[in-house]
Amino acid sequence: NSRKQLIAGNWKMFMNTQQAREFALDFQGRVADVTDKEIVICAPFTALHVLKEEWEEGIIHIGAQDVFYQKEGAYTGEISPAMLVDLACTYVIIGHSERRGYLKENDELIAQKIKAALENNLKPILCVGENLSQREDGKALSFVRSQVEKDLSELSSSDIGKIVIAYEPVWAIGTGKTASPQDAQEMCAAIRSTLAGIAGAAANNIQILYGGSVKADNIKELTKKKDIDGALVGGASLDPKQFADLIHNA
Ligand code: G3H
Repeated sequence: NSRKQLIAGNWKMFMNTQQAREFALDFQGRVADVTDKEIVICAPFTALHVLKEEWEEGIIHIGAQDVFYQKEGAYTGEISPAMLVDLACTYVIIGHSERRGYLKENDELIAQKIKAALENNLKPILCVGENLSQREDGKALSFVRSQVEKDLSELSSSDIGKIVIAYEPVWAIGTGKTASPQDAQEMCAAIRSTLAGIAGAAANNIQILYGGSVKADNIKELTKKKDIDGALVGGASLDPKQFADLIHNA
């Protein structure tokens, strides 16, 4: 296929400003040779200005881990899409399972966030994925398909072509358990066919990532699969050498 691989790191709630700066300076040299893959780091809001200072001119894209859907106003604690653009962000993770779980985000809110991000030219990385009991009950495919449909319900079909989807089975996040490459491929293919149902041929150009305990030594067997176009990486993105190795192996 013609889709470029995308490897995105999600730092979650790690990295103060000094750690972010040390990472930024070390990592950029390690991936300077990478031209065939897109690289993104999604940092906490408080570290974004550091990445902007170090990377704005370079090949590494900067992303945030969440965004609010309003332009501005009395929304205490929230961050607008334009504020992220001001910090040189071009990507934003939306609907991560940790926010759906701990912060009680639902599909309606996530759909509004996706729409607002696109209106500000931020590329959303929409996270979807089933939990363990849904998988054991044989409901994983239907659950994830319905998440995709609901979360994209506010978009025109031409806008759907601008998003990235990350399939992250909840039971594989931070647990050391990865979905088998076959199961991950099966789900990513089902996501692509759902996208084709709502957006037609544009679905062939949408990058679909796998996430959940991806490391330097298991990335290749995942990205070899036809519908897996990269990875969303948590723990293994916190160390510059480990993450650079993972990218080279992808
Ligand atoms: O966003 C990243 C995922 O939640 C995966 O995290 O690589 O630490 O399992 P992990």
